[in-house]
Amino acid sequence: MSKKYDIGLGHNDVTLRKKADSDYVSFWDEQAQNLSWFSPWEKILDWNPPFAKWFVGGKINASYNALDIHQATKSDKPAILWEGENGDSKTYTYGDLFIEVQKFSNVLKSLGVQKGDRVTIYLPMVPELLIAMLACARIGAIHNVVFSGFSAASIKDRIDDSKSKIVITSDGGYRRGKIVKLKKIIDDAIKDFEFVKHVIVLERTKNEITISSKDKFWSDLMANVSSSCDAEKLDSTHPLYILYTSGTTGKPKGVLHETGGYLTHLHSTFQWAFDIKDSDVFFCTADIGWVTGHSYVVYAPLLHGATQVMYEGAPDFPDMSRMWDILQKYDVSIFYTTPTALRMFMKFGDDIPNSFDLSSLRLLGTVGEPINPEVWKWYYKIIGKEKCPIIDTWWQTETGGMMISPLPGLETIPLKPGSGTLPIPGVKISVVDEFGTEVPPNIKGYLTIQNPWPGMLQTLWEDDEKYKTVYWSKYPNCYYAGDYALKDEDGYYWILGRADDVLKIAGHRIGTAELESCIVGDDTVAESAVCGIPDEIKGDVIIAFVVLKDGIDIDKIVLEKKLFEKIRNDIGAIATPKQIYFVPKLPKTRSGKIMRRLLKSIGSGELIGDTSTLDDVSAVTEIQNIVKQQS
Ligand code: PRX
Repeated sequence: MSKKYDIGLGHNDVTLRKKADSDYVSFWDEQAQNLSWFSPWEKILDWNPPFAKWFVGGKINASYNALDIHQATKSDKPAILWEGENGDSKTYTYGDLFIEVQKFSNVLKSLGVQKGDRVTIYLPMVPELLIAMLACARIGAIHNVVFSGFSAASIKDRIDDSKSKIVITSDGGYRRGKIVKLKKIIDDAIKDFEFVKHVIVLERTKNEITISSKDKFWSDLMANVSSSCDAEKLDSTHPLYILYTSGTTGKPKGVLHETGGYLTHLHSTFQWAFDIKDSDVFFCTADIGWVTGHSYVVYAPLLHGATQVMYEGAPDFPDMSRMWDILQKYDVSIFYTTPTALRMFMKFGDDIPNSFDLSSLRLLGTVGEPINPEVWKWYYKIIGKEKCPIIDTWWQTETGGMMISPLPGLETIPLKPGSGTLPIPGVKISVVDEFGTEVPPNIKGYLTIQNPWPGMLQTLWEDDEKYKTVYWSKYPNCYYAGDYALKDEDGYYWILGRADDVLKIAGHRIGTAELESCIVGDDTVAESAVCGIPDEIKGDVIIAFVVLKDGIDIDKIVLEKKLFEKIRNDIGAIATPKQIYFVPKLPKTRSGKIMRRLLKSIGSGELIGDTSTLDDVSAVTEIQNIVKQQS
């Protein structure tokens, strides 16, 4: 591959990889020592497959590592340069955050929150979201952050499953110039839940809200509370958070992350991948409601005492120059975003980014979905001006942190547009066939992880059995990631999309089963199947095929509208299909399995391939005609 992309930042530490290859357990033991521990661990790894415990016996606190350790040297250094969508802005230094977090820890304690209790947080991208998370971590409560774009029904499930006794929300949040009424959504979500004792309401937009006896205002609670709260000395294996994510079956599952291993993984990857320096200004565009925000907005930058930009709203509001304006204004040096955002910016041409001074940039990253090589090259040339390495980072909610990525803070290797290059040191990835045998170079297979790693999920919240089945049952003692991949002749990995029924829409994870059961929940619908088809901006968009119950005669436009509304209410706007096709039947195998592969091909206008296992071939022709008519 062209030498053109062989950009290094001067690092070439070969010893680290050698150490990791010879003994990954001792390697992570050394990495963990970069954190501040109250007491050391007795055992590095307790591996009782598929359950891993890292740094057993060690005592640690995430909030302590994010804040307390910086107070002697960095209390005046900006931690968060926050910009609201409406132009508000605020800076929090490490000293400011330290005080706010201790105060909010005391607020939580005063409301009866104890170690191990769950706290649901449903806030827009405001510094108080990060403050609430760190306050939970400080006292050993388990935070359960829900993305503020999710609907009342989705948040209800997550509050119920986690049995949170406290919910933190705000009157509203700004999104594309409008106020999203988060408090109203929480009112609907918790109305049947006796176990929710208090709702803490942050006044962000000051729009009118309904107040109930459970509600308490953030500002009132913070007004007279002590600003001193020592961090709890927690076990390394103490749960830090639950984050719900979509899978192949049923409702979203609660991925549970613990403390010591997770922080170790983040501390190391942030250094290796972003080459972080004291002078850097980091900007990750992810919403904290997703794992990228948890790991690389909240925890990793603060562990390193870094300065970062946090932005509240839509990247294209009020117009397509917003991101470049932020990069210029705050002298951002490291920028981490999604391929979907880049595809959108690229579509609007080079003139907009070219009219800003982006010379402060020195490193660029992407995450969440495959990046097309042409978009990678645009990012490299137009945004990075051919001087910034691009790190394409592959990982998942479950892995906690990056698993495959170029690491310019550690080594210099040639980059290939569209490949995440190599696994991080201490992680062993293998691409295997159906039987678990490693496939030869350049052959597509399933991506697996062969050893436990420190950032790995502990389990699924109160569901060890599901944890075993979803990730560890396809291959013995080996983690099944659910992605297709291939390894090329240079040992570089290329991620080829999901191998299961999980959709990636604009980088967001949506389960087909979750969406189909929502559609079938309408009383006119007998059956439904959804799939993703390629889209120029979002990577994939959803299309849905719906079979109506016998005898239903209804205007299809009216019904489509009703179903869109139901999906927005039950899940959230991100799950809305681009198109719903009403069809007489779905293509099924003789054993009754829906052939989504065929639907995907029909929806994207591709050849449909082998139909020999189909029960009724006429279903395909009828669907093809309907799709043609509606497209
Ligand atoms: O399919 C892979 C895709 O995103 C999935 C994980 O989604 P989520 O848990 O929401 O976490 C996203 C942010 C870490 C993966 O199974 N994915 C993630 N990063 C990449 C990717 N696909 C291709 N290239 C990537 N860099």
